[in-house]
Amino acid sequence: MRIAVFGAGYVGLVTGACFAELGHDVAVRDVVAEKIDALRRGEVPIHEEGLEDLLERNRERLRFTTGVDEAIEGAEVVYVAVGTPPTYSGDADLSAVWTVVDELPRVDRRIVFAMKSTVPVGTGRTVRHRLDERGFENVGYVSNPEFTAEGTAVRDFLHPDRIVIGAFDGADADVVERLHAGIDAPVIRCDVASAEMIKLAANAALVTRISFINEIANVCEATGADVLTVAKGIGLDRRIGSSFLRAGIGFGGSCFPKDSLALKQLAANSGYNFQLLNAVIEVNELQKRRVIGKRERRLGTLRGKKVALLGLAFKPGTDDMREAPSLVLAGRLLAVGAHVSAWDPVADGGVLLDGVEIAATALEAVDGADAAVLVTEWPELRDLDWAEAGARMRKKLIVDGRNMLDPVELRALGFEYEGIGRAVE
Ligand SMILES: NC(=O)c1ccc[n+]([C@@H]2O[C@H](COP(=O)([O-])OP(=O)(O)OC[C@H]3O[C@@H](n4cnc5c(N)ncnc54)[C@H](O)[C@@H]3O)[C@@H](O)[C@H]2O)c1
Repeated sequence: MRIAVFGAGYVGLVTGACFAELGHDVAVRDVVAEKIDALRRGEVPIHEEGLEDLLERNRERLRFTTGVDEAIEGAEVVYVAVGTPPTYSGDADLSAVWTVVDELPRVDRRIVFAMKSTVPVGTGRTVRHRLDERGFENVGYVSNPEFTAEGTAVRDFLHPDRIVIGAFDGADADVVERLHAGIDAPVIRCDVASAEMIKLAANAALVTRISFINEIANVCEATGADVLTVAKGIGLDRRIGSSFLRAGIGFGGSCFPKDSLALKQLAANSGYNFQLLNAVIEVNELQKRRVIGKRERRLGTLRGKKVALLGLAFKPGTDDMREAPSLVLAGRLLAVGAHVSAWDPVADGGVLLDGVEIAATALEAVDGADAAVLVTEWPELRDLDWAEAGARMRKKLIVDGRNMLDPVELRALGFEYEGIGRAVE
């Protein structure tokens, strides 16, 4: 089949590359000309494992363009994968989605407009009205939300847990289901509103688990229990399961914070106070700040002290800095007068972290530091020469914000080690 994908970001590029891998002809359209030029030259503007290979392997079936007409030409399905960031009010900003709806040209065949961007429940119905107003009865609408995680997006797309297809018309759902032929996964076919809610509810469930285990970690700290042991002990219960039970300094990224806020606001706009989700968001905000409080208790005032942030991306495997906990940590540390150095193997923190010294290596970042905070669990940090790191630091103090390092090993090297929810010695 021939398809068009609007948006060459984290989701659009993976969607385009994976559909090409499945044998479809794909045109990817973006409004940023430099991005399209780079893609045409064979350069990949984001860090996502396996994406470069996939784009290279399927070159003949992939086109990149800034032109709407060129993208739509001959397409049976038009995917929307543009950003839906939060507005000041916390609602999703759908302006890029509306732009795509409004710039869709009239075609004289049936096409399916498929929504991959994460949107509030009810968006599909509103888009349907807009299409009808424009006299586009030949354009079907399908909600086909995306569940891939950055860092494993290619694998997630080709081996998903499920494919969700919400449609107003069964024939449109058939088209989108056929597009996924070759992927072995259960298909949930449903109404559009339910498909939209599945996406928001799935992310809400995941962030709830994260905030839950973070609160358990905080209680562990207060009572002398060890959260890693506790998580293992509860995760083996088949009714609970072990995923998303890793305590840390809170969730970030381009999806979890914005989607939980959007669902909270969606509920509020509908007259419902989603108390549980409110608490989940609040716990996450506090979790990021707790690390600073801990440092202050150990070091006294942080004014003039040097703190190294190790890892800046919101998680390993991506260069995405959107809503990364490192941004809050850096902001708080600078606000209390600390000197902040930082290192990340791929994320370009220099753009976002004004006032932070960006180091070329992790060892350079910890040079002369009074404390280091492991923010992102990059494997490079597990494998770091910690003896050398300790020798370079002014004070051997490490906060392991992801519980990735071995406390016994670090303490043997003379470090004062502190994890999240772990017994402090
Ligand atoms: N990032 C993820 O892992 C992920 C996972 C699941 C769902 N989502 C959702 O998918 C959507 C896209 O997320 P993303 O991370 O890929 O965003 P992104 O910001 O990386 O990419 C969006 C792209 O859309 C382009 N764009 C804007 N207006 C356009 C238009 N009119 N025509 C064509 N392109 C246009 C932008 O230039 C940008 O390149 C969001 O709604 C997000 O919530 C993201």
